[in-house]
Amino acid sequence: MSGELSPIDKAKFVAAKRAVDFVEDGMRVGLGTGSTAAWMVRCLGEMVREDGLKIKGVPTSTRTADLAREVGIEVISLDEAKWLDVTIDGADEFDGDLNLIKGGGGALLQEKIVATASDQMIVITDASKEVEHLGAFPLPIEVIPFGWQTTKSLVEEMLISMDVMGRDSTLRMNGDHPYVTDEGNHILDLHLGRIGNARQLSLVLNQVPGVVENGLFVDICDVVILGFADGKVET
Ligand code: 5RP
Repeated sequence: MSGELSPIDKAKFVAAKRAVDFVEDGMRVGLGTGSTAAWMVRCLGEMVREDGLKIKGVPTSTRTADLAREVGIEVISLDEAKWLDVTIDGADEFDGDLNLIKGGGGALLQEKIVATASDQMIVITDASKEVEHLGAFPLPIEVIPFGWQTTKSLVEEMLISMDVMGRDSTLRMNGDHPYVTDEGNHILDLHLGRIGNARQLSLVLNQVPGVVENGLFVDICDVVILGFADGKVET
């Protein structure tokens, strides 16, 4: 499956390959979204088709659901699963406390719900995502379309009092149109530069009317598996 991969894809692939070692027969598995998570879904699919692994997968986006079905994984809803043994997902940034920024792929809402409903969240990534302080990657927040410009102003005002460097935000676009999430919402990307207190910021952001969820994952991730282009893996 790994064939001739670019160095970055090799790093993502080896991290995904190590993560699927945690998956056992009978498990209910949260399936993340993004290019790294897609490797994990392909690896699990191979184990289902070739080794007879029996799992049920709960995808975190329509993209992942389509891929999971395509590779042979049985897909169920979170409400059918009720609780998950493990979720494996990518991240846009992670720090030394295993706090994350997620949502670069626009799936942060389902990703956070699914990861929170799991015994364990494993993040798979390459070394470029490791940071000392979160915030260089723009923090995505999911907002409802109604009054999004007002929500944007309220969020920017709120950021003045928070321990962050920047406070500009941009509406994520898909060509000429606002990006629309699986739940029919929009995404604001917050250009913060550096986040001092991720837990506090996450709580405060979710208090702003119109904000559905933010991409800070605080105390949710249990393990980060780092892949490298030379095939090495670190946990
Ligand atoms: C999607 C996410 C992804 O996990 C994150 O953007 C990382 O993606 P990739 O593995 O493609 O770098 O949070 O909402």
